[in-house]
Amino acid sequence: MPYNKSFKLTEEIFNFPLREIKRFIRDFHSEMRKGLSGRKSSLKMLPTYVKKPKGVEKGESLAIDLGGTNFRVLALKLKEKRRILILGSKKFVLKKKHITGTGKALFDFIAGCIKTFMDEYKIDISEKHSIGFTFSFPMKKRRVSSGILLRWTKGFKARGVEGKDVVKLLNESLKRKGLRNTKVVAIANDTVSTLVAKSYEDETCDVGAILGTGTNACYPEGQMIINIEWGNFNKIRLTPYDRKLNYLSQSPGEQILEKMISGMYLGELTRLVAKDLIRDAIPKTFKSEHMSIIESDTSKNLSRINRLLKKLRITDSKYTDRKLLKKICAMVSTRAARLSAAAIASVVTKIDPYLSRKHTIAIDGSVYEKHTGFSRRISATLKEIFGRKTANIKLSLTKDASAKGAAIIAATTDEEMILT
Ligand code: GLC
Repeated sequence: MPYNKSFKLTEEIFNFPLREIKRFIRDFHSEMRKGLSGRKSSLKMLPTYVKKPKGVEKGESLAIDLGGTNFRVLALKLKEKRRILILGSKKFVLKKKHITGTGKALFDFIAGCIKTFMDEYKIDISEKHSIGFTFSFPMKKRRVSSGILLRWTKGFKARGVEGKDVVKLLNESLKRKGLRNTKVVAIANDTVSTLVAKSYEDETCDVGAILGTGTNACYPEGQMIINIEWGNFNKIRLTPYDRKLNYLSQSPGEQILEKMISGMYLGELTRLVAKDLIRDAIPKTFKSEHMSIIESDTSKNLSRINRLLKKLRITDSKYTDRKLLKKICAMVSTRAARLSAAAIASVVTKIDPYLSRKHTIAIDGSVYEKHTGFSRRISATLKEIFGRKTANIKLSLTKDASAKGAAIIAATTDEEMILT
């Protein structure tokens, strides 16, 4: 069985043992320090001009969320006692033409969706409305109400946006659509909105993380929340498959950690490994979501995997190949979960080196929420790293957080942070 033999070798290079995790954490801390002090680093450590909420914020606002496969518009109300009500919500599908055309077309489309939403919910456009904007990309900021896109990630490439203030671009589009009294007043990364939303109800929350199409996290450094942009961390040992994926990607050299962890890339990474080890070539339509289906098939003949492969036009798969594919998926996603745990461990120990108090980590994203076994593997790895002290770390799936957080931030802009 030459196939299984080479699987053993591949499995070895995909291993991410505790010894390497410890080195990862040391390197991560060193890159964090460099980034914070403005030296060259793969971690940008971007100031966000947002602080943790007090839980007393009130008001109504609109929230929009851009950065994954969908675009969402919501209307929210902040109530007393740290409660948030969703008054309305609508999802719009982002087509390829929207994310790869001109920036103007992208923001006009978004403004159009906001208008549709307001019409549908009979929101009076002649009155003033403020929008909190969750924009899940790296931004350079000087205040909460502006954000200059540093560079697109996750396959977005709308022209003429990098280097520009996206709030300004969207406000111009809103005007063009006749929404003169509706304005974006605050913009935040999705990790920041997630942290803000969770800490609105849980004061011990001090990390917001996304494990979805992309991956990233933020935490407070003093008063100011810092967007780490950890997806770009690159002090990691790569396998030949990681190198190949990176080389073939739209952005070689960038977002290295993201390419090993996030939903945008896990399927492709698995496909590249499978191409080497399995006779039948897995098609490019293979996605990260498929891995979860494959890994959770416990039937005797692996019949769910068989059904899935048929859908992918592999009609006569052998049992041994299906079994091998299952192993490959588990191998790739186990490493992804262990890397995620290492990144989380790095951030928590930056805040509190000896884990002497409780920390809630608010996590959102499809990989964390939906991938079978992913969250369990993260917890198990944290236990390997911290032993009994893991009890001080609580991972909390925080859904809808990026919208809620945007609304909270929009409601508090009058207390805007002063440049420090
Ligand atoms: C990408 C973006 C980052 C975002 C993350 C999760 O890494 O660069 O800003 O937070 O995806 O959506």
